Amino acid sequence: MPLTANFNLYGTEMNNRYGTLASLVYTLDKPVGRSFGDVEYYQQRLGGTEGLILEPAVGNGRVYVPLLEAGFPVEGFDASDEMLGYCRDACAKRNLSASVTRQTFEDFAYDKSFAAVIIPAGSFQLITETASAIAVLRRFYACMAPGAKLMIDLDPIGSFFGPASSVRRWKTEAGDLLTLTDHRGETDYVAQTTLSYLRYELWRDGGLVASELDLFKLRWWGVDEFSMALQRAGFVDVVASGNYQHQRAPRNDDEVITFEAVRPA
Ligand SMILES: C[S@@+](CC[C@H](N)C(=O)[O-])C[C@H]1O[C@@H](n2cnc3c(N)ncnc32)[C@H](O)[C@@H]1O
Repeated sequence: MPLTANFNLYGTEMNNRYGTLASLVYTLDKPVGRSFGDVEYYQQRLGGTEGLILEPAVGNGRVYVPLLEAGFPVEGFDASDEMLGYCRDACAKRNLSASVTRQTFEDFAYDKSFAAVIIPAGSFQLITETASAIAVLRRFYACMAPGAKLMIDLDPIGSFFGPASSVRRWKTEAGDLLTLTDHRGETDYVAQTTLSYLRYELWRDGGLVASELDLFKLRWWGVDEFSMALQRAGFVDVVASGNYQHQRAPRNDDEVITFEAVRPA
């Protein structure tokens, strides 16, 4: 049975890898176009944007492909070859030209500037060191045109303290069974991170054919804390909105908080 784990040859941890089974599960669970209100919200907020849009951590193209279909000129990057593969396939199936590259939050570089940068689905929380997160915000700033808009979704803090374990299952197109066992292992209240152990398993005819282990680490942010981080990186006009209702202040029971900020002209 092929078993892959997220440690490199030197035994160093590699978090948030989105490998083969993780990417397959993501695509089965959140296919292109599956919306949590975000697909419509981002399209509406991006209306009238003049110039290129960037989606870092573009993944399988869940939000990216509908943006392309709606006529937005959008580019993306992602750390996972497997996720990018699903994105490129989805574009090819629709005769859309995919402008996506393999880059990471930590090392992305562009020799052009963007009129908007969007990060839906809480992907920014995958950057778990505070100093790295601020550095990434500064690098977004550097690749944005004056007056450009940055939009970032964050999960509310309460969502980090839900049930500590879960098991979910999916059927693949080929009829195989995929399971995901999620166990929250550690919570660091000082670093504001949770570390979960994710075990993906692919079953065929009752036998286990592949398994993948992932260490999944996320950082939570307070609303004011993140607004201040954006300001520290140079952004202005920071607005935090709850549940995709623009300018409606976040509430305790919101499922998502969207931050919008502007690179000053
Ligand atoms: C929750 S998915 C979001 C995908 C897509 N944006 C969406 O809205 O459905 C998170 C994505 O972040 C990517 N990712 C994780 N760590 C990353 C990093 N350091 N740099 C760039 N992308 C990363 C993963 O490969 C994955 O595709």
